[in-house]
Amino acid sequence: MGRDFLSLFPDLDIEDLRKLPSPFYLYSEQKIRNNIQHLLQTGKKYFPDFHLHYALKANGNPHILKIFQQEGVSVDCSAPVELELAHRIDFPIEDCLYTGNYESQEDFQRVLQYDCILNLDDARRMAEVFSIKIPEVLSFRINPGIGRGAHEGIVTGGEKAKFGIPHELSGEVYSEALERGAKKLGIHIMTGSNVLEPEHFLQITERIFDIIEEHISPLNIQLEFINIGGGLGVPYRPEEKTLDLEATFRNIKSVFDSRLSKLNIGQPKLAMEPGRYLVADAGCIVARVQHIKESYRRFLGMDAGMSTLLRPAMYQAYHHIEVLNQAKDEENYYVCGQICENSDVFPEERRLKKAQVGDLLAIHNAGAYGFCMASHYNHRERPAEYLWTQNKELNVIRKPEVPADMFRNVPDFQW
Ligand SMILES: Cc1ncc(COP(=O)(O)O)c(C=O)c1O
Repeated sequence: MGRDFLSLFPDLDIEDLRKLPSPFYLYSEQKIRNNIQHLLQTGKKYFPDFHLHYALKANGNPHILKIFQQEGVSVDCSAPVELELAHRIDFPIEDCLYTGNYESQEDFQRVLQYDCILNLDDARRMAEVFSIKIPEVLSFRINPGIGRGAHEGIVTGGEKAKFGIPHELSGEVYSEALERGAKKLGIHIMTGSNVLEPEHFLQITERIFDIIEEHISPLNIQLEFINIGGGLGVPYRPEEKTLDLEATFRNIKSVFDSRLSKLNIGQPKLAMEPGRYLVADAGCIVARVQHIKESYRRFLGMDAGMSTLLRPAMYQAYHHIEVLNQAKDEENYYVCGQICENSDVFPEERRLKKAQVGDLLAIHNAGAYGFCMASHYNHRERPAEYLWTQNKELNVIRKPEVPADMFRNVPDFQW
């Protein structure tokens, strides 16, 4: 589950970690590979041609991406640099998906240099895209009118969402794509993130089939794929259960079985583009206790704050915290970082092993949406990233920053 540091990093000597400057991100290669294989095997059991795109926005360290490339997974990219990165890592570009939103013309120019699968967030961008070239495979992100996520900030479907094309317009959109000469078409939805209930995936698959039946099947279009997005959740809290992947795919399959043969859309593949599920529980932040303050509350101050991990301050997201010492006693703490914001406190009072200044802490489930959201706020250097390899080597995969890194692009100033 990734909440017990030593079971995630067996054989790793904590004394070796103590010698490193903190805070830093630490990932388990084995756990990432296990996550990928579990998802691929379960998906392929129900859908032999299941297509998995890893949403690399979750963690785009090139050394992590290499693991995905070796496991035969492709990627979902959300910005031109992500696609350029995928190309550099040698992912087969024709399998890579690009799902942006509110792009500039320059963004499209950069993306269309590659024959990737282009997933458009607004049909009104079609004219610009087709003036550059006819995409090899074109797909549309449809807003199905429903959304769900663990926090409001990660709900990406429904009437408040900035994403996607209103589902009522699907018929017009696909007709226009055909008129413009699109040859291969797919359909895509992404309704929200970190969902732990298999029923949700039943519901969204039903919903996309409703939309297809009403608007697309009458056009007699052969769809290459139906992409139901990412959103597979991981338990962040100890009391939460892992997502039942078997039940999830069984649900999705039941919809395909009951509905596909009645539609006029050929034999589309199932595609998904999870990020969090594949990397979140494979990573921790290792931080150091800096000071314990007895104020109106007891604060445990550490050197990882909202500039290291933004999610607690941004969404009040819960991350499990473990004190890596041998203490038998426990104490209650509010765990906070060193940033000058009162939101730089982890939500909820925690019952932790009694901690001393200098003790190491593990912040769990930090493998997704962790480093990629880190910042220089308060002029804190961004942390290093390490990979605990299958061969039990501790490899630095991003060096710790130094102050000069923060001012590299400032003209007429040298640190
Ligand atoms: C379009 C799209 N696809 C996939 C993902 C990955 O979501 P998750 O990490 O919840 O699987 C996101 C996340 O924001 C997204 O915006």
